[in-house]
Amino acid sequence: MKYLILQNPGHNRVYYKEAAQLAVSELSIASKRLSVKCTDVGIQEVAGVRYITLTCDDELSSQDITVLSRLSFVFAIFNQFGLHAEDGLLPISLEVCEYLDSKISTIQKYAGKTNELFTKMMVNVALLASDYNYDDDIRLLDPVAGRGTTLNEATVYGFSAFGIEIEQKSVHENQIFFKKHLQNERLKFVADKRMVYGKNKKEAIYMHEFEYANSKEVFKNKEERKQLGLICGNSQDADKYFKKNCFNLIVGDLPYGIAHGNTGANKSTTGTRNPSELVESCLPAWKSVLKKGGTIVLAWNSFVLSRLKLAEVFATSGFKVLDAKPYQGFEHMVDKSIKRDIIVAKKI
Ligand SMILES: C[S@@+](CC[C@H](N)C(=O)[O-])C[C@H]1O[C@@H](n2cnc3c(N)ncnc32)[C@H](O)[C@@H]1O
Repeated sequence: MKYLILQNPGHNRVYYKEAAQLAVSELSIASKRLSVKCTDVGIQEVAGVRYITLTCDDELSSQDITVLSRLSFVFAIFNQFGLHAEDGLLPISLEVCEYLDSKISTIQKYAGKTNELFTKMMVNVALLASDYNYDDDIRLLDPVAGRGTTLNEATVYGFSAFGIEIEQKSVHENQIFFKKHLQNERLKFVADKRMVYGKNKKEAIYMHEFEYANSKEVFKNKEERKQLGLICGNSQDADKYFKKNCFNLIVGDLPYGIAHGNTGANKSTTGTRNPSELVESCLPAWKSVLKKGGTIVLAWNSFVLSRLKLAEVFATSGFKVLDAKPYQGFEHMVDKSIKRDIIVAKKI
């Protein structure tokens, strides 16, 4: 059985060519979750149009189509009948399951925003590489949340999402946006602000918390509500703000030191473009709040810090870095000064 997948045309034009390689890597990781054996993942042109291909031993189940429909690059899936793609392509209906409409992630435009399809891909890779499933009660942390693209992508999947961001302005804007969005969509919610750390008001760290649901019926049952929490604080203190082993996934786009600097423990290196000190100082806290079998996926600029060096930092902190081929297929140019890559590490 051969399947051909058309890529979402919204993929960042800057890395359009490399986007095919990123898609192959994401699909290769997802293929391990399918009910049938996949023998090949590749790229093929049919009548001048590029497709991502998947060859399997048997027909994909509807559960498999659900897994594929979630992938960040998937626009349309076809089943090839006959020996060649030119013989005919049969369109397959996607199984789109969005808890909140995906526009929550796309409507905002601002300087320093991480591309939403790239962010969705990171969330997928984190989930697919972890020991958890999409329908588990997933809790995700973005430890460098900015104005919340990762958190918004997580809410589309129905995950509870939490962010730590050091800049007060970004946290404030994120909080205002999320509240307005729930109101505009006429979704039931409660909002609260509670102290999560500090002995007195002066050093207090607060979490802005939302509890919401995608229908009035679901909202009635407190257990079924989703949560979104925003903390203005330093990520190296994540274990002071959250309980041990409370997150399945940690996903974030590390600061690039241009629009957003690194804010780590050491004042002399704060604001540099190299995020290694930030990651090193935060990993003990991130490890503490992550569940066993959970994963961390971080994007960074590989021009300023090599994959090998970053992998060493993770390994020293006791993480298993997933370094086999599909996990090494995500590097791509964003602009002249940024070559972006992602690292995937698991708490074992
Ligand atoms: C690349 S931006 C994330 C952008 C975000 N994904 C979005 O789309 O809005 C990285 C963020 O990390 C924040 N940051 C840097 N050091 C931090 C620290 N120690 N703790 C928490 N946030 C930090 C920066 O202020 C910046 O907003």
